[in-house]
Amino acid sequence: MFASRFALWALLSGEILGPPNYQFKGSNTYWGKVRQAFSCLFGPLICTKVRPLLVRKSGHYRVDIEKLRADTPACQGLVHLDNAGSSFMPNPVVKALIGHIEREAAVGGYLAARERAEDQEAVYGSLARLIGAATSEIAFMGSATDAWDKAFYSLGLGRGDKIVTAFNEYCANYVAFLHLQKKLDLEIDVVGPDDNGDIDLGAMRQAINSGARLVAISHVPATSGQVNPVAEIGRLAREAGVPYLLDACQSLGQLPVNVKHIGCQMLAGTGRKFLRGPRGCGFLYVADDFRQQMEPVFMTNQGGRWVSAGTYEERRDARVFEVWERNVAVQLAFGVAIDYLHALDMDWVSGRICALAARLRVGLAAIPGITICDIGQELSGIVSFTSTAQSAEEIMRKLRRRGIITQVARVVHTRLDLEARGIDTAARLSPHYFILEKEIDRTLEEIAALHS
Ligand SMILES: Cc1ncc(COP(=O)(O)O)c(C=O)c1O
Repeated sequence: MFASRFALWALLSGEILGPPNYQFKGSNTYWGKVRQAFSCLFGPLICTKVRPLLVRKSGHYRVDIEKLRADTPACQGLVHLDNAGSSFMPNPVVKALIGHIEREAAVGGYLAARERAEDQEAVYGSLARLIGAATSEIAFMGSATDAWDKAFYSLGLGRGDKIVTAFNEYCANYVAFLHLQKKLDLEIDVVGPDDNGDIDLGAMRQAINSGARLVAISHVPATSGQVNPVAEIGRLAREAGVPYLLDACQSLGQLPVNVKHIGCQMLAGTGRKFLRGPRGCGFLYVADDFRQQMEPVFMTNQGGRWVSAGTYEERRDARVFEVWERNVAVQLAFGVAIDYLHALDMDWVSGRICALAARLRVGLAAIPGITICDIGQELSGIVSFTSTAQSAEEIMRKLRRRGIITQVARVVHTRLDLEARGIDTAARLSPHYFILEKEIDRTLEEIAALHS
């Protein structure tokens, strides 16, 4: 059943019908897929101009993948299929990172930061543009967990309050629920899957409408290929007037994310995954019209200005949640990574990731002994599977020896989901746009060889 579903998907996404580098704008919708298939057949007749990086003409894109790969020299030696873990930084990001550290070594950290004050400020604008927010709604953070926790613990939840989440919630968020539950006797209402494996929206509506104080879910779960219906849940939360905190750690950089469309008041993201930034950075979005309803879990000299011996003044933007000290090189490099993505096109990026993941799914489904862990109707670029022949660890180790980087998804990451399905570990493959079709095919051959 999975095989036929993926084969159809791959067909409609143009992966089989057409040349791989044509993607149609909006290709992650049903009609987008139909148009995508059409464009893959007739695209070459319509789009004739080829320029470096990206050309958009009549809704079609032509991308020079080799040029993008040249920006990422590690691509020449390794097939990187762990972009959901930590992607390869492109050269401009590495240059920004090292360049600033060298400048700090030359003139000292404070002077180096002062020289780049405008660029540092511009990072907020780049992040805001990424998610359709205002600059005032962005705070720079050390990771997605840092961002998520700042929001969660600043909500002022009280004794017995009810949190609504989903069966595929990420471990860091869930242990924070359990932590506050110990102190406040919180009710954690976990909404399960419907018959398709998607978050059950009927149950979600009921859970939200029966006294919820917070809805907190992940956009794309870490361990399986599904995409949660975040905008539908946003609508339910808005109708009930319940705050909505979204973990967009795995969706940013692989899917278009727009906070206005989704309707969340808070969103957490990280730098190193599909956004291709450095490690040690992330960001928090807090809607301007919601911030006043939060009480920062702690106050710092960045969040508040000490104006008299006995008083301080709070910032009036999302940076009220920040600390002053940070790795400026990392922040600047994060901005370069976001601008690098802006120079492409999110629809093209997400279309290509989905097409590469579909190619993986079709190939894996044909290998005896492999079960793909997908559930749900909309699939992401994360492809996880179990095998009767090899453990996930063995698959990762053996592929690594052949120059293919993959990851192991573990039950501790999304315990409620994987435990219910009897999955302890699964091999996880997550391609990015710079991966070639022939690399996907080689990976499939290697995995098939492990099963022969
Ligand atoms: C869905 C999800 N949320 C949150 C995180 C945590 O991100 P970070 O390590 O940047 O805090 C991860 C990390 O893998 C994740 O997959």
